[in-house]
Amino acid sequence: MRTSILLWFLPCLVFGAHLPDPRESIGEEPAVFAATNDEITNLVEQLYSADVNKASSGDITLNLQYLASSTQTSSGTDYASQKLFSYVNEAKLFARPTFSRYIALLDNYVKTTGTAESVTSGEVSEQNAFIDEVFRTSVFSLLSNFLVSKGYYTSTTSFKDDLKLMWFGLYTRTKGPLDSSGFEHIFHGEIHGGKVSGFHSWVQFYLQEKSGQMNYLSYSANGPWNGYPDVLGVQFKWSGYLKSIGSMFVGTSPEFDFAVFTLCYVTRPDSVCTVKMGGQTLRIQTYTWANSTYGNNKRYVASSYPVV
Ligand SMILES: *[C@@H]1O[C@H](CO)[C@@H](O)[C@H](O)[C@H]1NC(C)=O
Repeated sequence: MRTSILLWFLPCLVFGAHLPDPRESIGEEPAVFAATNDEITNLVEQLYSADVNKASSGDITLNLQYLASSTQTSSGTDYASQKLFSYVNEAKLFARPTFSRYIALLDNYVKTTGTAESVTSGEVSEQNAFIDEVFRTSVFSLLSNFLVSKGYYTSTTSFKDDLKLMWFGLYTRTKGPLDSSGFEHIFHGEIHGGKVSGFHSWVQFYLQEKSGQMNYLSYSANGPWNGYPDVLGVQFKWSGYLKSIGSMFVGTSPEFDFAVFTLCYVTRPDSVCTVKMGGQTLRIQTYTWANSTYGNNKRYVASSYPVV
C-alpha cells in the first residue's frame, strides 16, 4: 500500500507535473518568468562567444555615410548615395552551412501582404534543413540546453518541433489570406500598409542591396561594438517602400540572430529583453501574434528585433 502511494506521487515530484508551463501562460495569466534576467544575460554572452560562424573584421566593409537625426529618420530622404555594404566576403561566409540554408529560404516568400503564401514540400524541406543545420551549432546547443533546463521545453525535440511552428507557421496580417509568418516578417521582410514591416536581417539587406531592390538612406544608430557582431539602426527603401527605423545585427551568423530572437521571444514575450554582448547592453523587443494560435493555445512570433 505505502509503496503504491509513493509510486503514484513520485512522478509528480520528479517531473513537476503541477508547475505551470511558461509557454502556455502568454496572454490571460501573468507571465511566468522561469529564467531570470541574469540567466538570460549570461546565456547571450555565451552565445556571443560561441558564434564561430560570425564575420571577422575584414569580412564586411560598411559605408555608413550619413547619421540621421531623430527628425530626419521618417523623411525618406536619401542621404547616402552609396550602398551600405561596400563588401561582404560571400565566398567565405555564405558557403557556411547555416548561411546557405538560410539564404535558400529567402526566395520562398511573397513580400507584399494580402497574398497567401503557398508552401511547397520543397520549401518545407528547406525549412527543415535550416532548422537541422542550426541545431548542429554550439549556439543552438547552448540555447536548447538552457530552455530545457529552465522548463520551457521537456526535450530538445519538443523545442525543435515548437520552433518550426512558432517561426514558420502561417497567419494572416490582412484578415484573410495566410500571408505571413514570424520568419518571413523578421528574416525576409514584408511590405504592409504601404511601408516595410519587419526586415531585421543583415544578410537579406545585403542581398537585396546587391540585387538593386534596396536603397540605403542613412543610419540613426551604431552600436558600441568594434568589429562584428554590431547592431545598426538604418533608414532604407525596399522596392520603393520606406522603413524609417530598421534595426539589425550586422556580421552575426543566422543561428545567432535566430537564437537570440527565439530566446527573448520564449522567455520575455511581448516585452523588452535586456541582454549583453561583450559587456555592452542590448535590448530586444518581442511581440506575439495575438490573433491566431497553434497547438495548445500557443502564439506565433509576430516580431523580435534589436531596439535602437
Ligand atoms: C487582430 O485582432 C485585433 C483585436 O481583435 C483587431 O483589431 C485586428 O484588426 C486584428 N488584425 C488582424 C490582421 O486580423
